[in-house]
Amino acid sequence: MDKVGYYRRNALPLEMHKVCIVQKTEILPVEDRVKAIRRAGFNSYRIDSVDVYLDMLTDSGVNAMTNEQLGAMMIGDDAYAGSKTYFRLAEKIKDIFNKDYFLPVHQGRACEHMLALAYVQPKPGSIVPMNFQFGTSVGKIKYCGGDFVICLREEGLERQSSDPFKGDFDLEKLEKVLKEQGDNVAFVRIEAGTNLIGGQPISLDNMLAVSELCKKYKVISILDASLLQDNLHFIKTRENAYQEKSIREIVRTMSDAMDIIYFSARKLGFGRGGAIILNDKKEFEYIKTFVSSFEGFPTFGGMSVKEMEAIRVGLDDTMDENIIAQGPQFIEYLANELEDAGIPVVTPPGGLGCHLDASKFVPHIARTDYPAGALAAAVYIASGARGMERGGIDEPWEDPNVEPYGAMELVRLAVPRRVYTVSQMNYLIDRICWLYDNRELIGGLHFETEGPHNFYDALDSNSDWPERLAEKFRADFGESL
Ligand SMILES: Cc1ncc(COP(=O)(O)O)c(C=O)c1O
Repeated sequence: MDKVGYYRRNALPLEMHKVCIVQKTEILPVEDRVKAIRRAGFNSYRIDSVDVYLDMLTDSGVNAMTNEQLGAMMIGDDAYAGSKTYFRLAEKIKDIFNKDYFLPVHQGRACEHMLALAYVQPKPGSIVPMNFQFGTSVGKIKYCGGDFVICLREEGLERQSSDPFKGDFDLEKLEKVLKEQGDNVAFVRIEAGTNLIGGQPISLDNMLAVSELCKKYKVISILDASLLQDNLHFIKTRENAYQEKSIREIVRTMSDAMDIIYFSARKLGFGRGGAIILNDKKEFEYIKTFVSSFEGFPTFGGMSVKEMEAIRVGLDDTMDENIIAQGPQFIEYLANELEDAGIPVVTPPGGLGCHLDASKFVPHIARTDYPAGALAAAVYIASGARGMERGGIDEPWEDPNVEPYGAMELVRLAVPRRVYTVSQMNYLIDRICWLYDNRELIGGLHFETEGPHNFYDALDSNSDWPERLAEKFRADFGESL
């Protein structure tokens, strides 16, 4: 990564791209933001995008694409079977991941569906050990009759820490599971980086050790590389043994150790789609049968050829240190500035987004009143930025009579790559600082209907706290939006 020093400041993220195409955006007045969040049932998934100034809900399918990606889309070969586009992308995948076979699918969760059909469904009651769960991954495993076991090190769940690789497996725990469960293990899933614990990375040494254990116990290793680009940046910058290695060399080492790799190209590759890649021809032919039944003919698998061409170019971009540094640098800037202002955020800063720790930001709100959901709504009222609740509202119900509460109450402010500028981050930091100083005005939420709830269901405020927050905003900011 190129280093750029400053004369008057310690550091500032610096964009290594210029903007060629822009999309107009607006900030609604605070009173209208209160109306919009009420219309949306206090759920940021339900806010119309026209009402949003900074869309920080997710990094999925919303990263800025390059002129070269858009150009490549024009040469897509729309043949139903045997398309040139398929072979071009397969060649790029071979070049980067050194694996011979590739199956396209429509997005990351489709990879998970195919793999669960292939390896979990034939073994009812089997388990999948993983460093951490992700909703779509475990959803497919359970749907196919299996279950999952979390093997994260305990330190991974500490919200404030200086541990550089909070996504690492507890290798002893994993080995115990592999030893005790033997044939009952469908595969081991390695998530790099880990979405639900704040985009925290896993070290390459830990991945290699997991792969060795898989070989020892003759279990398939499957890498979920959806968030790999941030993870690669962290391996390069935080893991001493690999600082002299190029990103391509790091990917090659990692890839050679894994049996199967899949990714959501909505995240990796700056496009929209998904891919399963592997070396074993027999396994490829086997998984292909599911792709052709559920996704599409195996040379497009539910993806548009335009997207496949864009991913081909995007994968090369992912090998560029300056390009993949942008997201983590912006997230680090956001997290450091907020932390310096005394605001509780998840540390060290990870990939994907900056995570506010709602249980410390609004400790006066009980878990039953959804602190992270309330804080996400308050951030929207204060700034027009929509983040994502990562707490009790998001937690899937196992038992229809028992409301679950997750390990953490976080608000994720995702940083789509190359979409926003440093001045927009400074605006957001300013509004969150104001909100923190007025945090006692934020109240709780309740669902409008009886459970079990979904993360996209509507809620309501427990009082008129949103209106009172807006009144205070008006008093402090005068005419300002
Ligand atoms: C780690 C991880 N795996 C899988 C997925 C699923 O990908 P998709 O949203 O493309 O279905 C995601 C999406 O956020 C993810 O973060």
